[in-house]
Amino acid sequence: MQVDLLAGTGHRPFACPRPRPAILVFDSGLGGLSVLSRTTAACAGADIVYAADDAGFPYGRLSEDALVARVLAVMERLVARFHPDLVVIACNTASTLVLPALRARFAIPFVGTVPAIKPAAAATLSGMISVLATPGTVARDYTRELIEAYAGHCEVALVGSTRLAGLAEQALRGEPVDDAALMAEIAPCFIEAAGRRTDVVTLSCTHYPLLLERMRRLAPWPVAWLDPAPAIARRVAQLLGTADPAPAPCPEAVAVFTSGAGLSGPLRIALAAYGLARIAIEPMPLTN
Ligand code: DGL
Repeated sequence: MQVDLLAGTGHRPFACPRPRPAILVFDSGLGGLSVLSRTTAACAGADIVYAADDAGFPYGRLSEDALVARVLAVMERLVARFHPDLVVIACNTASTLVLPALRARFAIPFVGTVPAIKPAAAATLSGMISVLATPGTVARDYTRELIEAYAGHCEVALVGSTRLAGLAEQALRGEPVDDAALMAEIAPCFIEAAGRRTDVVTLSCTHYPLLLERMRRLAPWPVAWLDPAPAIARRVAQLLGTADPAPAPCPEAVAVFTSGAGLSGPLRIALAAYGLARIAIEPMPLTN
């Protein structure tokens, strides 16, 4: 299998049929907001839809078969409703598995989010890197292939966190998240052996950059935390031909949720801070 760090679309820059491209940014929940902010900054003037499959959250616990079926079903609805020109799968757990099925099913380009193992291997001085991700992402063949292809000379710790994505959601909703809970999730990333220690941690779940400042503060020693969002945003801009955007008024973006549950006041405020003032509910209960 050919490994493409950005889970590249296989598409060259294409002629977008509309003067203002429509970009759908998709995640299981709120983590994709860390990619959304970079993407909107790189693609000023694009119409943005942010879709959170919160009925399926967290994806990290779903079997591979269930996850492929779920993402295809949800995408079917979203594409029919919003007609995006390009979709960003702002979710490592989904991208490391579902991109081939999405590209086979839909004619539009999909840009994925996958663990930044190549940049981590290039950046480490100690040769010790940690991949902090969901249990789904650390178990993927795709992740192991990235390590074999790019980080054969490194010691790579795969750290599957069951709680961190949920804690990020809690924090964004304005609910308290205590330091001990965060520390317990990130502690396995920090390894010391034979006079060397981990110096790079990849944030391989899009929820984790939402907690970056707190993780920096709690880290037992300083490390480089790699967030792939800037590279994803550059790739989207390149594909849409908006890499050098003229300043344009930011159109009103919309956020879609699949659970049908109401959104709290603090969450609405947090979404508005990402430019998502309009909320749409597209209920799609998880059936398996
Ligand atoms: N934000 C997702 C990711 O990048 C995963 C969170 C989840 O649904 O488990 O992997």
